[in-house]
Amino acid sequence: MSQILNQIHFFFICAVKKIIPTALILASLISVSFAQKAEKFFDKKDLLLVGSYYYPEQWPEANWERDIKNMSGLGFEFTHFGEFAWSAMEPEEGKYDFEWLDKAVALAAKYKLKVVLCTPTPTPPAWLTEKHPDVLMVNAEGRTIQHGARQQASWSSKTYRAYVDKIVTVLAKRYGTNKAVWGWQIDNEPSHYGTSYDYSENAQQAYREWLKNKYKDIGTLNKVWGNAFWSQTYNNFEQIHIPNVLELVAQANPHAVLDFKRFTADEAAHFILLQQNILRKYIQPAQWVTTNLMPTYSPVDPLRMKDLDFLTYTKYLAEGYDMGHGEQGFRMGSANSIGFSNDFFRPINGVTGVMELQPGQVNWGLFNPQTMPGTVRMWIYHVMAGGNKFVCNYRFREPLSGGEQYHYGIMKTDGVTVSRSGDEYVKVIKELKDLRKAYQPETAIPSSLVKRKSAILYNPDSRWEMEYQPQSNQWDYMAHVNRYYKALKSLGAPVDVIDETKDFAAYPFLIAPAFQLLDHQLVSRWKTYVENGGNLVLTCRTGQKDREAHLWEALFQQPILDLIGAKEIYFDLLPVSLMGKINMGQTNYDWNNWGDVIDPISEADVWATYSDQFYKGKAAVLHRKLGKGTITYVGADTDNGQLEKTVLRKIFNQASVPTLSLPEGVLVEYSNGFWYGFNYSSQNQEIPIPTNAKILLGQKTIKPADVVIWKE
Ligand code: GAL
Repeated sequence: MSQILNQIHFFFICAVKKIIPTALILASLISVSFAQKAEKFFDKKDLLLVGSYYYPEQWPEANWERDIKNMSGLGFEFTHFGEFAWSAMEPEEGKYDFEWLDKAVALAAKYKLKVVLCTPTPTPPAWLTEKHPDVLMVNAEGRTIQHGARQQASWSSKTYRAYVDKIVTVLAKRYGTNKAVWGWQIDNEPSHYGTSYDYSENAQQAYREWLKNKYKDIGTLNKVWGNAFWSQTYNNFEQIHIPNVLELVAQANPHAVLDFKRFTADEAAHFILLQQNILRKYIQPAQWVTTNLMPTYSPVDPLRMKDLDFLTYTKYLAEGYDMGHGEQGFRMGSANSIGFSNDFFRPINGVTGVMELQPGQVNWGLFNPQTMPGTVRMWIYHVMAGGNKFVCNYRFREPLSGGEQYHYGIMKTDGVTVSRSGDEYVKVIKELKDLRKAYQPETAIPSSLVKRKSAILYNPDSRWEMEYQPQSNQWDYMAHVNRYYKALKSLGAPVDVIDETKDFAAYPFLIAPAFQLLDHQLVSRWKTYVENGGNLVLTCRTGQKDREAHLWEALFQQPILDLIGAKEIYFDLLPVSLMGKINMGQTNYDWNNWGDVIDPISEADVWATYSDQFYKGKAAVLHRKLGKGTITYVGADTDNGQLEKTVLRKIFNQASVPTLSLPEGVLVEYSNGFWYGFNYSSQNQEIPIPTNAKILLGQKTIKPADVVIWKE
């Protein structure tokens, strides 16, 4: 191991001195995996550890002991320091000040709080960007992003990476063997937020290096990008610019755009993994390393970061954008928001945690409502039901100054009175004590869930490609995926969102929504999965293109036609003002986002047909048996997901797998031997709890924002 570490160190030094081309270094760095089996960091019987953020650098030193003591006294088990504190750690270049952090860590230890320590790399100090303005990112309009918020540095800047190396090294050496430090968070929500993509000279150069590394010669790139089109042929890599629609008269080359998105996700992952590699040189193996990501945020790809010990996510639901279910839904957010994040992040490394959970009212939403009483408690239990190892509340004290005034904390503005949401944390912390006592390690996963186990197949390439070429102003890939996720949850199915490295056979039901980019190998894996008894669901747009986003020189979607039992497919798209009709059984469904019109082979069952437009009577949903399993192709994308839900229910019924029928906003989850019922709707709801169940908390009928927990 130490040899590998030395090698990495050597590579990094060379990188800083520009001896080795960046792409080569990055490839070497990323190929060395430090991921440790994540379960070892957590004790299952703790169920869920609960923490809260604290910013010693933002409060007078005289408050620290009182605040940390209060945090501990309320029952919190860990705290979180330092992700924005670079200028406090290194007020001037090379002049470090860790006295304050030493004191804060020691106080946490004194009051038995574990510490999550962060690298402060989202917030370069003013002296750094003043001295090296070229480390700043540039947005699509050509504006340089300035000091004053966060995430302003370019992930591609070698100068910035050299500074990052220094500060992370100093931190790792100082706290890597400190017993109070539980684990490390690298950066904070790496994403560049709304600015998303970096067009700086650093990024331009790194993009060219990335392309050289991928294509080796310019002729290959010209071919893959189809550059004969519009005379786009390049003579060399130096002529290439990041595709930027604001600098182009007409649309950009879609292959260049797809590569740019892949490159950006690689840059983000390298920036994070580079820091992990530095940390691992000095920190003890008992300390874990993670980062906190915004769920499925497009420019960043969590799957590229799976070499971290595990990934965590951050979650805010009541912010005026997510209107939830019914009249009061805006106070709770959607029932599937936390669930989808749980089911997206957990399968990556088998372990996840929520690094930030909304503490109640926030300041940055479309409008910032109060949460419905009970909501924060319900969210915490929803996190626990998703198998998360910990939840951390953002933040302990409500800030009095700076960019997040009006943002709730555990404490009110006076710093010592527990807020409404703080009360809900305290309640959960007390209840958790009893739940931990009720935990039984040997409990087997109920057979009803094993039978319903479902996976959703995800690949960011398809998403990125369709984001750029949606074909319709109504196409929304994540909304499409969510319609299937939501339908599965309403049937009571446990779901994992998986990538192609996972074994499909572990899931009786596999859905690949709008899996636009694929190869023949994936199609034959799907076929084998079905022949062996799996139930595969493919949806519109699947298989239109190869992995480099070329349409096939064959019939449209040819690679999947045999598999789904179709002779040919074409698609139609409707205006917002017109709803097309589809008939399935006795029911009509509305659609207008996407409609694949399918010509089936005679052996396929037509489950649904279009009932208007010039293709009236043609197939919209096909189903067939193959070997021991089934394949269903859903050609239409609806707004309300009712057609999708009806199709899924029929597939489960045909497979003789019993399902639930949960109303909108109601969820039933299971983890670690406990069943949970949640009510995100605006009315009281009765949860389907078996009569022989033992209710541990709550009751069968729960009001909005409430939870019931039982054992069977
Ligand atoms: C998060 C962010 C935190 C804080 C919080 C406010 O997205 O990571 O640093 O800004 O939002 O709600």
